Amino acid sequence: MSIPTLDSLLAAGVRGERVFVRADLNVPLKAGVISDDSRVRASLPTLRRLLDAGARVVVASHLGRPKGKRSAGLSLRPLAPRLADLLGAGVSFCEECIGERAVAAVAGIGAGQLLLLENLRFHAGEEKNDPDFAAALAALADVYVNDAFGTAHRAHASTVGMVSKLARAVAGDLLRSELDHLSVVRNPERPLLAIVGGAKISSKLGVLEALASHADVVCIGGAMSYTFLAAKGEPVGKSLVEADQLDAARRVMRAASEHSRRLLLPTDHVVAERVEPGARSRVVRQIPDGWIGVDIGPQTAQAYAQEARRARTVFWNGPMGVFEIDAFARGTETLAKAVASSRAITVVGGGDSLAAIQRLGVADRISHLSTGGGASLEYIEGLTLPGVAALER
Ligand code: 3PG
Ligand code: MG
Repeated sequence: MSIPTLDSLLAAGVRGERVFVRADLNVPLKAGVISDDSRVRASLPTLRRLLDAGARVVVASHLGRPKGKRSAGLSLRPLAPRLADLLGAGVSFCEECIGERAVAAVAGIGAGQLLLLENLRFHAGEEKNDPDFAAALAALADVYVNDAFGTAHRAHASTVGMVSKLARAVAGDLLRSELDHLSVVRNPERPLLAIVGGAKISSKLGVLEALASHADVVCIGGAMSYTFLAAKGEPVGKSLVEADQLDAARRVMRAASEHSRRLLLPTDHVVAERVEPGARSRVVRQIPDGWIGVDIGPQTAQAYAQEARRARTVFWNGPMGVFEIDAFARGTETLAKAVASSRAITVVGGGDSLAAIQRLGVADRISHLSTGGGASLEYIEGLTLPGVAALER
């Protein structure tokens, strides 16, 4: 089904109207300092177009998981000056996201001006998709725009509940572009290579099962590969293993073989005595007793890189090792370079893989960097994203 877009909204005109933009400004923030503003930058095109069209733009987002309570460290206030810098325009901030103060703040902005609201998740009603909270948000606006792709897998008041309360509701440019690019992975030019890493099978089980039948090749890295190896009865030393996911791992491997898909596991490993910088480490074919797997080995990295060269579509989510520690980052780096230089359409999602891509300075050689971790995985798994479904009417 298709969803209404910003183009159709702007064609009809929004001058002087209150446009509520649900963005995903959930950025990594430490002591008020934004360490990665990719999500803010990705939100700019929609905001610029609305401001240029003379809308009164009201931006709302969550930040972190404050669990329904006000939390000073999770205020969106530091985002206001960053937005202003990037937009080259003034940005006002309101310490509330609903109620009298918010209503007054919205009334105070004129055509072509922008107001940022405080963290939606300071209210429990947001995550509960509470109808009264949704109505209070809807009361702030004439028009609704969802541009929060990273939160589209959550059925919350600002992504679902308020949508039907406003006569016009459309997808912003970021949401639209994310869906377009991720659809390429759902309907790929083959061969489709999926590279999946990260610590836990449990958090990616749905997409692993889907990819095991859908992708031509699935390369597994990160700590989740030790759960796969353990499920095959191979030695994993003291590596991180999800003992309750061994059957799940076997299910994924069985699904791949039933669909004649190749699921590749590491054939060599970087192991360390401890997971910390400076720890003694070495490369092994089999993980010895007492050692911890911290990265895929060089032979595995080369084999996976070779798959990236052969593929026509590549989807990558999750690091190949403990890449925050330099000595254990080689596997992830090798893959990042291979994906960047592949002639395939390349789609990368998830905070850690994006960080690796950015650190190596190859971001401009990736076809699409998704701003969604969980959302991109659920979309590729074939699930309906509630935030997208809410716009389909
Ligand atoms: C994210 O960063 O994954 C999104 O902003 C959604 O946040 P959440 O996982 O806390 O719902
Ligand atoms: Mg998340």
